[in-house]
Amino acid sequence: MQNNSSHCDQKFQVRKLEISDKSKGFIELLQQLSICDSVSDKRFAERFEAISSYGDDHLVCVIEDDVSGKIIATGSVFIEKKFLRNCGKVGHIEDVVVDSCARGMQLGKKIIEFLTNHAYSMGCYKVILDCSNENKAFYEKCGYKQKEIQMVKYFI
Ligand SMILES: CC(C)(COP(=O)(O)OP(=O)(O)OC[C@H]1O[C@@H](n2cnc3c(N)ncnc32)[C@H](O)[C@@H]1OP(=O)(O)O)[C@@H](O)C(=O)NCCC(=O)NCCS
Repeated sequence: MQNNSSHCDQKFQVRKLEISDKSKGFIELLQQLSICDSVSDKRFAERFEAISSYGDDHLVCVIEDDVSGKIIATGSVFIEKKFLRNCGKVGHIEDVVVDSCARGMQLGKKIIEFLTNHAYSMGCYKVILDCSNENKAFYEKCGYKQKEIQMVKYFI
């Protein structure tokens, strides 16, 4: 007999974003994170192709709820190629969000593990992300620690 966690592991698999995920609520999920106007199918396809052209250097992952057919968690990682650190690589995690109805089920942790493992497998010497004070404890549970501060300049 399966225990609950292995059942959950099978039910909520992390996979790469697919173009058909637009019709499964992917954009609506991102709207829970930040401003994200509706995106036409054409613009979505263009952006999907642009991201795909980076291959493993830009990965967007999702978790689909098999029952509802909705995308309920997502996150992305971009692999930066540097001259520093002997031409080293750094992973940048972005746009992590879990549907408000599915929070507290370890899905965020699964997304972070997947993205972190990807950065590691790509040969990155570190992986970094920005977060609010409210989410600091979540990322600490995922094995991250605070370092320095974030600076930003918005153009719009
Ligand atoms: C932050 C977020 C991604 C966490 O996802 P989640 O699926 O609810 O988190 P998990 O269930 O995987 O939590 C993993 C652990 O972190 C803890 N945790 C999660 N969010 C936390 C928070 N805000 N503060 C303290 N602990 C938190 C959980 O209790 C759990 O602890 P446990 O392993 O001891 O049981 C989710 O709340 C979310 O999408 N928030 C809105 C968007 C957002 O802020 N995204 C982050 C941008 S940086």
